[in-house]
Parts: sequence; structure tokens; C-alpha cells
Amino acid sequence: QRNFKVVVAGAAGGIGQPLALLLKQNPLVTRLALYDIAPVTPGVAADLSHMNTPAKVSGHKGPEELSAAIKDADVVVIPAGVPRKPGMTRDDLFNTNASIVRDIALSIAQNAPKAIVAIITNPVNSTVPIASEVLKKAGVYDPNRVLGVTTLDVVRAATFVGEINGVDPTSVAVPVIGGHSGITIIPILSQCQPALKLSDPAKIKALTERIQEAGTEVVKAKAGGGSATLSMAYAGARLTASVLRGLKGESNVVECAYVKSSLTEATYFASPVVLGKSGVEKVLGYGTLNEFEQQLLKAALPELAKNIKTGEDFAKK
Ligand code: APR
Repeated sequence: QRNFKVVVAGAAGGIGQPLALLLKQNPLVTRLALYDIAPVTPGVAADLSHMNTPAKVSGHKGPEELSAAIKDADVVVIPAGVPRKPGMTRDDLFNTNASIVRDIALSIAQNAPKAIVAIITNPVNSTVPIASEVLKKAGVYDPNRVLGVTTLDVVRAATFVGEINGVDPTSVAVPVIGGHSGITIIPILSQCQPALKLSDPAKIKALTERIQEAGTEVVKAKAGGGSATLSMAYAGARLTASVLRGLKGESNVVECAYVKSSLTEATYFASPVVLGKSGVEKVLGYGTLNEFEQQLLKAALPELAKNIKTGEDFAKK
């Protein structure tokens, strides 16, 4: 199969629009459904539909059009969410985004139970367990079909290493494992290919922290105007492209993603995975960590476990 329906849920947003633009350029996408609650959504679809690429674009606005958007999807990418507004606590933000992901997951269970779900909505460490629990309750859960998008961490690591090594960043590969926020992000710089040209432990620590806090660099630079959108869209489109290559039967498609995992005591964990005809075909291990990376993992696991529990508790309410 090489004709796929891809849905962007949250398609009118800062991430959603450029993500839709990039997906419209993917020749494997023959149907692109844009869902959002924003009034501009049909217009975003009309705009993109004028591009002379194969994907037929449809716009779906508001909850009453959610089912039609999701119906028979092969892949649903979810960047729907709210940014933090003045007066809003982190818990308010969590509850809102958690509810959005829950509702979309419920629709996936009803309208496209075999779809691969790629979640961008933060906090990814918790929203992936939420979607998983919702699908489980509906009796259609397959852990190989629910992924948290951590590709931006991999993309950032490659970019920063490329700068340091003085090489084209597209030729750099750095696995990033763990979760998708702060100290749960674990770049395995010792496995960087080609090897990282840094040996000073202080500099390696600083680079690690830059990768972990790269999102904050963007938030600060945007000065109140939001968080990373364009690089996130790029990362989301890259992961979706890899998922589609796997679905169409290509072998050896490997990406890091946050998935159900038994690699560590955290029940969801990002690591390299092989993508195939039914989603995640194999969760690959993360190889040997050096002492510094083992420390990072040790610090990350309790935080990750807490985030997972927060998600599961929400879904059980
Ligand atoms: N259903 C569908 N779309 C929704 C819903 C909903 N219930 N609620 C909000 N949206 C849409 C908004 O209308 C908006 O178009 O989600 C989009 C979010 O876009 P932005 O506010 O621009 O936020 P963005 O920067 O794209 O981030 C979205 O991704 O990285 C994460 O933390 C970020 O969770 C946030 C999400």
C-alpha cells in the first residue's frame, strides 16, 4: 500500500499548520484531513488544497466534524492543545490538554481503531499513557500503534553536534532516550555517529543540558509568543514520513519514539524503534551507556514514572 490517509488533529495551530504543509508534500499521503476547533480550519484546508501535490485535503471544524476527520485514518498526528495563558496553572494546562487528547483518542477508537497515533501534545510523557488507557478501555489498544513524538530532541541533538563537529547536521545521528521534557531527555552522546568531537566532561554536560533545555531557548527567544512550532512541525513530519515508509513495507526504518516499553522500570520510554507494517515492529535497546549517561537515566526514571502515573490516573478518572 502506498496511499495513506493522515489526519492532523490541531491543524490550525502554530505546529499544526506547518506540519500540514510538510505532510501535503509527502507523496505517500493521498488524503490529508485537517481537524481543529478554530474557525480558520476550512480555510487552512482550502489554502493547502491548491498545492499541486497528490494529497486531497479536507477541513473539519469542531467536535461534530471530528468523526469524519478521523474515519479510516492510517495515521493520526496530534498537536492539538493549549499554550499556557496568564493565570493558568500547570495543572489547568495539564487538565485541558489531557482532555483534548482523551477526546481525540476516543474518536480514534471509534473511527480508526487501527490507526497509528503520533502524539505531540504536551506533556508527552503523560499524554501518551492517557491515549493508551483510552484505547485500552475501548478494547482496541495496541501498544505498537501509539507513539509520543520525541523526534525534535533527536533533531536538536544532531543540529548541535553538527555545529560542534563542523559537519552537515543531516549526516549526524544521536539517539535520544527517556522522555520528552527536561531531565527525562537523555541524549546518548557516547553513541553519536560520527563521534562527537568533545572530550571535556564539562562541555559534554553543557551540551547535554542544552539539548534538554532547548525548548526553553525557543520560549525565551519568542518572548511570550509561544514555544517551538516550526522545528516541531519538521520533526513531526519526519516521524510521520518514517511511519508511512514502515507501513508501506520498507525495512530498517528506525526512529526514536516514546512508546510502551519494558527496557526500564518506566512503563513508557523513548528509544530507537523499528517501524513496520503495523507500527512499532521492535523496540530496540539503547546499548551501553557511559557512567554520565547512566546517572542521567537514574535521575530521569523517577520523574518519568511520576509523569506516567499522572497520565494514567487522569485516564482512569
Ligand atoms: N480539538 C482540536 N484542536 C484543538 C482543541 C481541541 N479540543 N483545542 C485546541 N485546539 C487547537 C487550537 O485551536 C490550535 O489551533 O490546537 C491548536 C494549538 O495550536 P497553538 O495554540 O498554536 O499551540 P502549538 O504551539 O501548536 O502547540 C500545541 O503542542 O508542543 C505542544 O505544548 C504544546 O501542547 C501544545 C501543543
